[in-house]
Amino acid sequence: MGITRLRGFQDIIGLDADIVSTVEHAARRVAELHNFREIRIPALERIELYQRSSGETSDVVEKQMYAFGDRDEAETVIALRPEGTPGVVRAYIEAGLDRSEPEQRFYYLGPMFRRERPQKGRFRQFNQFGVEVFGRPDAACDAELLIMIDELRRELGLELEFQINSLGDSSCRPGFRSALLNWGRENLNRLCRDCHERLEKNPLRLLDCKVDVAVTASAPNTRDYLCDPCRKHFAIVEQALTASGVRYIVNPRLVRGLDYYTRTAFEVVSGAVGSQSAVVAGGRYDGLVEALGGASVAGTGFAIGVERLALALNATQSRAERAPDVVILAMDNAVLAQANSVGSDLRLRGIRTDLLSPERGLKALMRRADKLKARYALIIGPDEVAHGTVQVRDLKQSSQQEAPLHEVAEHIAAKLE
Ligand code: HAM
Repeated sequence: MGITRLRGFQDIIGLDADIVSTVEHAARRVAELHNFREIRIPALERIELYQRSSGETSDVVEKQMYAFGDRDEAETVIALRPEGTPGVVRAYIEAGLDRSEPEQRFYYLGPMFRRERPQKGRFRQFNQFGVEVFGRPDAACDAELLIMIDELRRELGLELEFQINSLGDSSCRPGFRSALLNWGRENLNRLCRDCHERLEKNPLRLLDCKVDVAVTASAPNTRDYLCDPCRKHFAIVEQALTASGVRYIVNPRLVRGLDYYTRTAFEVVSGAVGSQSAVVAGGRYDGLVEALGGASVAGTGFAIGVERLALALNATQSRAERAPDVVILAMDNAVLAQANSVGSDLRLRGIRTDLLSPERGLKALMRRADKLKARYALIIGPDEVAHGTVQVRDLKQSSQQEAPLHEVAEHIAAKLE
C-alpha cells in the first residue's frame, strides 16, 4: 500500500462531494438572504485564543487541539482551529469593529480540526458553516438564528429536532454552578470517573455526561436558577419561535462543551446520523468579545457541521448522479477549435457540457457519452465542419438530426428549456 490518509481524515469524492456542496450552497444562500456578510479567517492562530475563549478545561482545548511550536518564533505555540467563533471574534476586535461599528453579522465556511476519537459523523477534519452576530443583545436575534436554521432545514427537506435551553448569565450562573457542585459532591460515589474530573473543573458538564444519564436526571437544572432578565430573554425566544412555526423542545439538561455561552444555547439534532447526532449547535456568548480584549459587545451564533448535515441529507434522500446535458464528440484534432467554441457557447448559456477527446473512434465515444448519461451528443468531424453543420444526437430518444454549427448552442438551449 502506498501512502494513505490519516485516521479521522477523509476524502470526499463525486456524489458525496455533491451532497456536501448542496449543503454549503443552501447555507450560504440562507445566510445571504438574512443579510450576513462573509468573513474569511486563518486556520492557524495562537493557542491562547482558544484557551481564553473555548475554555481551558473544555475537551476541545484540553484534549483535541492540533497544537505545535512555531519554528520562526520559538516562543509561540500555534493551533489549527478547532472551531470558528474565537477567530471571528479576534478578527472583529482586531479590525476595530467592536468600537467603530459594533453591529455586524458574519458567516464563514471552512475546515476545523479536532483530535477526537473518529467514528461515524465524527472526523478530525470537518467543515463548519458558521454565523456570528455582534452587537445584538436582544432575544429576537437568538430566535432569528433558529429561524434561519429552520429555513435551511426546509430548503433541504430534512426532519430535525431543535433543542433549546438557557444557561443563565454572570449574575445567575454562579448560583446554578454551586448548586450543581453541591449535588455532585453529595452524589460523588454514583458518578463516573470523568464526572469526578468535571465536577472540579466545570460542573455544568456533568449534565452532558453520556454515562451518568440516569444519575444526573435528579441534578438541579438550569431553568430553576435563572434570574428574571434571563427568564424573560428565554421567554421571548420561545414566543418568537412559536409565532414563526419553528418546532422545538426545551431541554433543561442541554449544556455546551465550550465555555463561552451565556443565556440561549441550542443544538439541532438529526435522527439519521447515528450517535453523533448534533448537526448544528450554537448560542449566545455575551462576554466573549470583552474577554478577548474588545469592548463590551454582545455576541450570538451557531455552526453547522457540514459533513454531518450532508450525512443526514444522504440518509433521507435519493442520490442523483450529476449528468452533463451535452457531450461534444470531436472526431479529429483538426476540429478541436470548432468543438471548443461550441462548448463555450453552450456553457455561457448555462448548459453543462463535456468534451470528449478525438483520440478514440466514434463507437467508443458514443459508449462513453451513454455512460455519462448525457442528454445530447454533438458529433463534430471534418465533414461537418466543411459543411458548417453538426450532428445532434438525442441519446434518450436515439434520434439524430443535423443543425447549423453556428446555431447549435441556441438550438440545444431551446430544446432543453
Ligand atoms: P460545536 O458544538 O463544537 O460548536 O460544533 C458545531 C457543530 O460542528 C456540531 O454540532 C457538529 O455538527 C459539528 N462538529 C463538531 N465536531 C465535529 C467533528 N469532530 N466531526 C464532524 N462534525 C463536527 C462550535 O463549534 C461553536 N463555535 C458554534 C457556535 C458558533 N456558537 C456560537 N457561534
